[in-house]
Amino acid sequence: MKEKKIEIIKPKMCHLETVLQVEQAAWPDVGEGMIAEVEKFKNRIELETIFLLYFDNQPTGVISFEHPNFTSSTILENILEEHAHNGLLNWEEINQKYHLPLDWYKATNDGYIMKNGQSVNNPNSDCLFLIGVGVDYKNKGNGLVNHLIKHTLEQAKKMGKKYVIGYGRLPQLHENHDAPNIKDAEEHLLEKKQGTNLPADYGARFHVFNGAKAVAVIPNAMDDSESKNYGFLAIYKL
Ligand SMILES: CC(C)(COP(=O)(O)OP(=O)(O)OC[C@H]1O[C@@H](n2cnc3c(N)ncnc32)[C@H](O)[C@@H]1OP(=O)(O)O)[C@@H](O)C(=O)NCCC(=O)NCCS
Repeated sequence: MKEKKIEIIKPKMCHLETVLQVEQAAWPDVGEGMIAEVEKFKNRIELETIFLLYFDNQPTGVISFEHPNFTSSTILENILEEHAHNGLLNWEEINQKYHLPLDWYKATNDGYIMKNGQSVNNPNSDCLFLIGVGVDYKNKGNGLVNHLIKHTLEQAKKMGKKYVIGYGRLPQLHENHDAPNIKDAEEHLLEKKQGTNLPADYGARFHVFNGAKAVAVIPNAMDDSESKNYGFLAIYKL
């Protein structure tokens, strides 16, 4: 069978509607603010912090990011070092020490990056923050998320970034827990897919598969019914 063509572009304003359609087709109905509305996407296109993937010439995947003004390679290096020594870290302690935004909303200015004179964007940052990635439901199972992540990591490197971070989801946590506590969420994140050394939860698996370390569980990371509002801090060293 002929391999299907995969192309990734930096969308322009004329692609806005297409980008929104892909987002809609990617996200389940999980909670407030996760799916980007028009204004959020306009900002990302203007700032050139978004990529659009075509699969067999069909718009199929979107990944968004920002240049975070709230962290640096020095901070992330320290966090990775602590993780290498201690395993999963405590989110509150990380925050007291390194002042990362407490949740996804604060990290992304509610997904707008820039809004009402407030901005979390600093083009000179030596890091990149992944806001979100989505692949059209119809085309799941083709490994497209890996193409989007790999492309973004490559571009980040070209921009001179040293680290890429994100607040990942744990969309399979709800499958085994009604009301998980932090320990449950941590055990869930550490659980491995059978026969592999990769996370069992597909929300964490693609990050680790592409080189990230999952370093801490984030309680109330986002309004996300599947993840029971838990997320995790993913750090890629480029
Ligand atoms: C997460 C997401 C981007 C993965 O994209 P994808 O291109 O469909 O991923 P793949 O086809 O490469 O699948 C990745 C792995 O997850 C598994 N997977 C994908 N969707 C799954 C689902 N709904 N339930 C269980 N497993 C799933 C695949 O079997 C695959 O397993 P493998 O690593 O053992 O090969 C996509 O499911 C999505 O858009 N979800 C909604 C938005 C989201 O959660 N984004 C991530 C956080 S911002």
